[in-house]
Amino acid sequence: MLPFLGAFALLLSVAFGEGDQTSNSTGGYVLKQGPLDTPWTDKVGTNPWPEYPRPQMARSNPNQWKNLNGVWQYKNLTKAEWQELEKENVTIGGELEGGQAVLVPFCLESALSGVMGNFTIYSRYRTTFDVPSTWNDRVLLNFGAVDYEATVYVNGKNVAHHVGGYWSFNVDITEALNDNGTNELFLTYINCSNVHVFDPTNLDPYNIPLGKQKLIPEHIFYTPCSGIWQTVWLESVPSDNIDKLDIHADADGKINVTIHTSSQLTVADFVLYETGSTDIKAKLQVPVNEAVEFPVDSIKLWSPDSPTLYNISVTLGNDTVQSYTGFRTVSRGVIDGVQRPLLNGEFIFWFGTLDQGYWPDGLHTPPSLEAMVFDIKALKEVGYNMVRKHIKVEPALFYQACDQLGLMLIQDMPALATSQVWVEEWPACPIKAPSLEQRTVQREFDRQLEILIEQHKSYPSIVTWVIYNEGWGQPSEHYDGVQNYTIDYDLTNLVRQHDQSRLVNTVTGWFDHGAGDFHDNHHYSSPQCGTPWYSDAAVPYDPTRIAIQGEFAGIGQNVTAEHAWKVRKSIEEVQKTYELDATVEIWNLRAHMIFKELQFQIENFACSGAVWTQTTDVEGEVNGMLTYDRRINRMNKEQWKADIKALYDAATTRNGSNGTVYLGSRGEMGI
Ligand SMILES: *[C@@H]1O[C@H](CO)[C@@H](O)[C@H](O)[C@H]1NC(C)=O
Ligand SMILES: *[C@@H]1O[C@H](CO)[C@@H](O)[C@H](O)[C@H]1NC(C)=O
Ligand SMILES: *[C@@H]1O[C@H](CO)[C@@H](O)[C@H](O)[C@H]1NC(C)=O
Ligand SMILES: *[C@@H]1O[C@H](CO)[C@@H](O)[C@H](O)[C@H]1NC(C)=O
Ligand SMILES: *[C@@H]1O[C@H](CO)[C@@H](O)[C@H](O)[C@H]1NC(C)=O
Ligand SMILES: *[C@@H]1O[C@H](CO)[C@@H](O)[C@H](O)[C@H]1NC(C)=O
Ligand SMILES: *[C@@H]1O[C@H](CO)[C@@H](O)[C@H](O)[C@H]1NC(C)=O
Ligand SMILES: *[C@@H]1O[C@H](CO)[C@@H](O)[C@H](O)[C@H]1NC(C)=O
Ligand SMILES: *[C@@H]1O[C@H](CO)[C@@H](O)[C@H](O)[C@H]1NC(C)=O
Ligand SMILES: *[C@@H]1O[C@H](CO)[C@@H](O)[C@H](O)[C@H]1NC(C)=O
Ligand SMILES: *[C@@H]1O[C@H](CO)[C@@H](O)[C@H](O)[C@H]1NC(C)=O
Ligand SMILES: *[C@@H]1O[C@H](CO)[C@@H](O)[C@H](O)[C@H]1NC(C)=O
Repeated sequence: MLPFLGAFALLLSVAFGEGDQTSNSTGGYVLKQGPLDTPWTDKVGTNPWPEYPRPQMARSNPNQWKNLNGVWQYKNLTKAEWQELEKENVTIGGELEGGQAVLVPFCLESALSGVMGNFTIYSRYRTTFDVPSTWNDRVLLNFGAVDYEATVYVNGKNVAHHVGGYWSFNVDITEALNDNGTNELFLTYINCSNVHVFDPTNLDPYNIPLGKQKLIPEHIFYTPCSGIWQTVWLESVPSDNIDKLDIHADADGKINVTIHTSSQLTVADFVLYETGSTDIKAKLQVPVNEAVEFPVDSIKLWSPDSPTLYNISVTLGNDTVQSYTGFRTVSRGVIDGVQRPLLNGEFIFWFGTLDQGYWPDGLHTPPSLEAMVFDIKALKEVGYNMVRKHIKVEPALFYQACDQLGLMLIQDMPALATSQVWVEEWPACPIKAPSLEQRTVQREFDRQLEILIEQHKSYPSIVTWVIYNEGWGQPSEHYDGVQNYTIDYDLTNLVRQHDQSRLVNTVTGWFDHGAGDFHDNHHYSSPQCGTPWYSDAAVPYDPTRIAIQGEFAGIGQNVTAEHAWKVRKSIEEVQKTYELDATVEIWNLRAHMIFKELQFQIENFACSGAVWTQTTDVEGEVNGMLTYDRRINRMNKEQWKADIKALYDAATTRNGSNGTVYLGSRGEMGI
């Protein structure tokens, strides 16, 4: 959607006040009453996200890892405090005087965090932990994600510094541990000696990958997420250990594995198990730190209808990790004259939702695994086979759930900001103002794009990477000032250097300059998917690439106060929804009309996939399959199942039927 750049105005919460405490179980933590909750909010307690968080490289035996989620101390720093930290030697550690309780891993702006703050630009966290006495090897400290820049101290020692709000990172803290038991973990993200500092969100002049976050939320931009927002945990590893596994398995039964390690060991044991059993299907020794490919006989393929997975274990010396894979091939081919995305050599229509992954109680962090999986199941139930994960990255368990339940993923890179706010209170890092020229911003974006792919390329469910959403953060010139959009091609090549096994959607919507595997159009509410007509600054369909409709529909239906995001500005902005239908019945009727239009485009033009806006309502947007609180499912399920099945049937019938094919204004009318 095009950003609506409205006037600067204050967020006003209309429904909370003093004394909203609903629990007080630990350390003064109190669940805040936010503008809206979900059926899971009250079940979170103070032991959130207890699940083992890294399913593709699991050391999940209970005596190998320890979850540090729970109540920590938090302090919002003033400008004066962070200036002190910058200028002087400050003892890092000890109680946070004037601090408060925070529930990790929920964003500081969320009700579940117990803080529900705003403008949490400079923050400090503190907790203490002990290391089980049975752990006598190396100890790694893992963060699922911290938004945006984190400096980590253990017992006063600076052990890690990390930039990027969506990525996991870990550090070996063995040398920093105390011999006598209790350790102190201290995390801050004030660090102005670097280019990108703290969590500026869209604070002027910073420009960081941030997706839909805005300090002052409005219309299609939402409350930001600061600080720790995914599981924090410790693990025990032998000194010779596996750092990373890259696993890709294709429809021909070939597995391509790279076992990364910094140890001196050179060979690992790789075991593939029969699906759903502990019988060994294949076992071999593989050299480490190089890509090794080998065939496996009589495998069952992964697809959305049949999401077959195979367990794996890899042993390097005394280190054993569990993983899994699915055999499938994503490619591109011409079928009856039309460019198609192929899964295992076949064209199936890709039909998904725009999936923002926002929660009224946890913002970027779902309240629980059960809640997160609820969304996926609601989509699968009516026949969606895909989601477009929209300029956000999820916890690893989300991708595992898509692998297990059978949902293809188009994964977006989180976008740079579309606008900045200037706030007098924070003249950003005035002491050492960082260089924020476009080249610096772009290099950081490129670096984080590579991390996105490296951290997610082993999930079978991901079928396509998206670099740019519309023109958001897309420079109109090359790094070197050349105004020819070669950057679209450079970044497409960069993605392909890291992953040749998927398709690349360089630009979803409008700002296309010919790069990548798709020509992707956005149009509301009616689709224009591979059609010979177009509008809204789109360019004519390019028949040399796959046509998809990366966004459409977006039809809405207002909610009653009990399901609304009770923030005055959001409620006032409900009317900006592309279309508001008077009742749920009318909404379903309109959906049916739009489905028939899309079906016609599949039957007659080059349309290969489409993304319906959107999975849930988000803040002031009321156009979800589900309301923001997940309490109402608007879909007339029987109608949606029939309408979605008709899309798949239309695509299948088109396969080989040789109906009239319009290949776009740059192509010719086929026969
Ligand atoms: C931030 O929160 C404070 C305290 O709740 C409130 O007074 C202030 O208006 C909020 N600021 C904005 C910009 O929403
Ligand atoms: C919650 O805990 C804090 C600190 O332990 C205490 O000061 C406060 O009175 C408690 N509140 C309630 C409602 O029990
Ligand atoms: C800060 O610490 C360093 C190293 O410990 C020391 O050399 C330096 O003099 C200290 N600076 C101040 C202002 O105390
Ligand atoms: C943090 O501090 C800033 C500036 O002092 C203030 O505007 C903001 O509301 C504070 N946020 C919280 C959560 O205390
Ligand atoms: C543990 O050791 C550290 C440094 O070695 C010391 O600072 C701390 O006070 C000790 N803690 C206890 C409980 O003895
Ligand atoms: C800031 O980051 C640099 C390296 O990126 C690190 O050396 C330095 O210690 C950090 N400063 C603070 C106060 O965390
Ligand atoms: C195996 O994967 C690596 C990347 O991990 C890739 O460079 C290589 O080409 C692949 N090998 C084959 C035979 O596909
Ligand atoms: C993989 O192993 C786990 C744990 O033993 C088991 O629960 C799961 O069913 C296995 N999955 C497959 C696909 O075999
Ligand atoms: C594995 O552990 C055993 C027992 O602690 C040790 O003797 C051996 O050297 C270790 N092997 C490797 C490869 O580290
Ligand atoms: C675009 O710019 C790049 C980088 O400067 C240059 O290599 C390329 O030749 C240019 N392409 C065209 C078509 O001008
Ligand atoms: C939407 O519903 C809310 C009540 O939940 C109401 O205050 C608001 O005026 C309605 N907006 C529109 C555009 O109908
Ligand atoms: C459709 O047309 C193509 C190209 O003309 C031809 O190769 C193919 O056999 C035709 N398929 C059918 C089912 O007629």
